[in-house]
Amino acid sequence: MSTSLFSSKITGTGSYFPERIVTNEDLTKTLDTTNDWIVERTGIRQRHVSREGDPSEQNSSLACRAAIRALEMAGKKSTDIDMIVYGSVSPDTPVPTSSCWLQQKLGAPQAWGVDVNAACSSWVYGMSMADQYIKTGQVKTALVVGSEVLSRMNNWEDRSSAILFGDGAGAVVVERTSSESPHRILSSHLGMDGNLWELFQVVAGGSNMEVTPEVYAQRLHKMNMKGREIFKVAVKTLADYAVRALEANQMKLSDVDWVIPHQANLRIIEAVAKRLDLPMEKVLVNVDRYGNTSSASVPTMLDEAVRDGRIRPGHTVLFDVFGAGLTFGSMLIRW
Ligand code: UT7
Repeated sequence: MSTSLFSSKITGTGSYFPERIVTNEDLTKTLDTTNDWIVERTGIRQRHVSREGDPSEQNSSLACRAAIRALEMAGKKSTDIDMIVYGSVSPDTPVPTSSCWLQQKLGAPQAWGVDVNAACSSWVYGMSMADQYIKTGQVKTALVVGSEVLSRMNNWEDRSSAILFGDGAGAVVVERTSSESPHRILSSHLGMDGNLWELFQVVAGGSNMEVTPEVYAQRLHKMNMKGREIFKVAVKTLADYAVRALEANQMKLSDVDWVIPHQANLRIIEAVAKRLDLPMEKVLVNVDRYGNTSSASVPTMLDEAVRDGRIRPGHTVLFDVFGAGLTFGSMLIRW
């Protein structure tokens, strides 16, 4: 039971994807793969890929377009934002932060901001942070973004990972509401296991290792993963974190209208649903059209389902994520 006077409520959602679509068939021109293999093993049919060198398709530019749509839905101006929380593993630059870039592009002069990198869990981590600042009364209106240009970190020569990732941005406006409000964030549960760092990493590009010509040749600055091992941990932890969210709210899965899991692979999503005895009709999926967009996967799916009327006022929605690190998290909301 919350002791705060305040709770947080999502009042606007938005998303944006770069124009260029790369289909599985396109990938077969450079990779030893087939459309059938990719669809059967991942459920992915296409992904959107930003144009390198186009200022309108930088990470923060995608986020800016998503944010404008979220603000429009919320009936807010950019000058109303107190706090920006920007989830991403693929920032425009190491310094300054993506939240700084977004503040400048959006025109939100009084907002302060912070970047969150919990890989694919970043947006749920960021939502939880915004929720805490709102509950303590320090922030009234937050913008929480998940935005990625993974195409620049993708090893396009590695067929086991290149097929998975896509670019895109999702944003939500989160506002203060009464703790008694039925429409609010009900709970969040976050976790991680740093012992599993080897399952997914970008070895170079941080302060451990510069990107020298040798490092570049070995593609150590690109995403590298142990897919099969991640798959197993993902299924178990997604199921565990869904149960944690339900137990904390004395709910059963039948009380939940929609589950939005991290969109990494349709087979992971189906395996979690099976483990939980959750009908797939309640699970929202966009991985077929966008691939794995990391921190953007849940907010973009949320935006789609809010705009097409699947998510309606009073619905209970569960966000359930995992990512490199490994990181995990779930959040339950009442729309
Ligand atoms: O946000 C978190 C990020 N990562 C993930 O969530 C990844 C989770 N893991 C996965 O999604 C799956 O493990 C993959 C899609 C990456 C791979 O699917 P899989 O069913 O686990 O395949 P596998 O790694 O066990 O490989 C099976 C076979 C191998 O060939 P052999 O050794 O059996 O001859 C691979 O070399 O499939 C081969 N293979 C491919 N074949 C055609 C791997 N990638 C491809 C490909 N096209 N793109």
